[in-house]
Amino acid sequence: MSNLASPDVQPLRVALLGCGVVGTAVARLLTEHADDMAARVGRPLQVVGIAVRRAGKDRSETGVDPSLFTTDAEDLVTRADVVVEVIGGIEPARSLILRAFEHGASVVTANKALLAEDGPLLYQAAQEHDVDLYYEAAVAGAIPLLRPLRESLAGDDVRRVLGIVNGTTNYVLDKMDTTGAGFAEAVEQAQELGYAEADPTADVEGFDAAAKAAILASLAFHSRVSGKDVYREGITEVTAADVHAAREMDCVVKLLAICEVTDDPAEPGGRGISVRVHPAMIPRTHPLAGVREAFNAVFVEAESAGELMFYGRGAGGDPTASAVLGDVVAVARHKVVGGLGPGESTYADLPILPMGRAQTRYHISLDVADRPGVLAQVATAFAQHEVSIETVRQQLLSPDPATPEDGRASLVIVTHSAPDAALSATVDALAELPTVRAVTSVMRVEGE
Ligand code: NDP
Ligand code: HSE
Repeated sequence: MSNLASPDVQPLRVALLGCGVVGTAVARLLTEHADDMAARVGRPLQVVGIAVRRAGKDRSETGVDPSLFTTDAEDLVTRADVVVEVIGGIEPARSLILRAFEHGASVVTANKALLAEDGPLLYQAAQEHDVDLYYEAAVAGAIPLLRPLRESLAGDDVRRVLGIVNGTTNYVLDKMDTTGAGFAEAVEQAQELGYAEADPTADVEGFDAAAKAAILASLAFHSRVSGKDVYREGITEVTAADVHAAREMDCVVKLLAICEVTDDPAEPGGRGISVRVHPAMIPRTHPLAGVREAFNAVFVEAESAGELMFYGRGAGGDPTASAVLGDVVAVARHKVVGGLGPGESTYADLPILPMGRAQTRYHISLDVADRPGVLAQVATAFAQHEVSIETVRQQLLSPDPATPEDGRASLVIVTHSAPDAALSATVDALAELPTVRAVTSVMRVEGE
């Protein structure tokens, strides 16, 4: 290590864009682990500047040398060998990354929103300028997941990636399950603990998970998948009643990201990609059911490797910085010894299938009139859409005070696997039946 400290050894220049939750941790760890990083890279790393938006903000708590801060990010990226982008959002992050490439810098980013929107553009620009684009922290924070997909599983055929990739929503659903809290109350708790942002839309509406699903599907299936290709439902419609219904079935509700290759005869070549993000019931015995609080976990199923599970912290300053710094070491090493990491792999070019073709199961709760023939009408609606019923449970309900003479019952139906379009048409047909007073809950069931 001592020779690396010699003034003759030219350090690699690192520019940090952003000094918020992630950037502050990256800056601190780069300083704290400077000697180890230098040894691992083969040259010292020198932070040449940190771009921020608000010049006057008091940043004494970060412990970062104040002379490093600048609001001129455009200039900063031209003075670096490695640029770490942890600003987030689309602009100016995209322009700054492109500018960094033009000036010969490799880029490490945690920006899933940008990658899911414009990944191909960034890959192409990196390739044109012979530099690296790494983004391990963009999906599932600290968990090494993208490198295994990009590199370790490059010789295998990945069939399915399924997991919990958003910590905020997992925390909210976990609290609803364990404390009986309603959605709004659980979101408030998540905000108090700093998991959910003041505006939690990207998390609770599933945009964050959809961006991550797009990145996972692109890497797993060697095809281009953007955020817009992902079927998305967030957790805002999940009620305490849904969570209770799941509990009754010995299930738990989780927001899942599911990326699958299906052998679909309707597609040319027979294969297509289904990518979706939605809440789903999973059995409590499933390993994902045990993923509590703000943790993430992802299952990967590959033809030869079989099932693999990745688990850990999907958010937070230090955990995310760990993934960022792993990438910094990788791209910095390439600067020292030559070579580049893997570029974009899209040779399979598989079509994206509409959600209607995804195979899934439904849990449906109905409030029905307790009269002869109701069950037969309900069963007919399923049969007409070629959806097979797995279980039916009936329970008498207390009469509606407005019509005390009418009997009421609750029907809870779980289906076998069927195309989502058929299941959704069945629910529409059920809602039209005069004997169905209300469709009280519809949720997909996964993990069996
Ligand atoms: P923060 O909002 O905490 O920090 C953003 C930083 O970027 C701030 O320092 C801000 O400056 C700076 N910034 C904003 N706009 C500009 C601009 N125009 N020019 C220069 N600097 C700017 O974000 P996070 O650290 O939470 O997230 C950063 C990235 O990491 C995002 O892409 C996010 O999705 C990703 N990520 C975050 C995780 C987390 O747990 N937080 C986990 C995994 C990924 P100022 O300080 O002046 O406001
Ligand atoms: N908002 C994200 C989450 C941060 O809650 O998982 C990590 O990407």
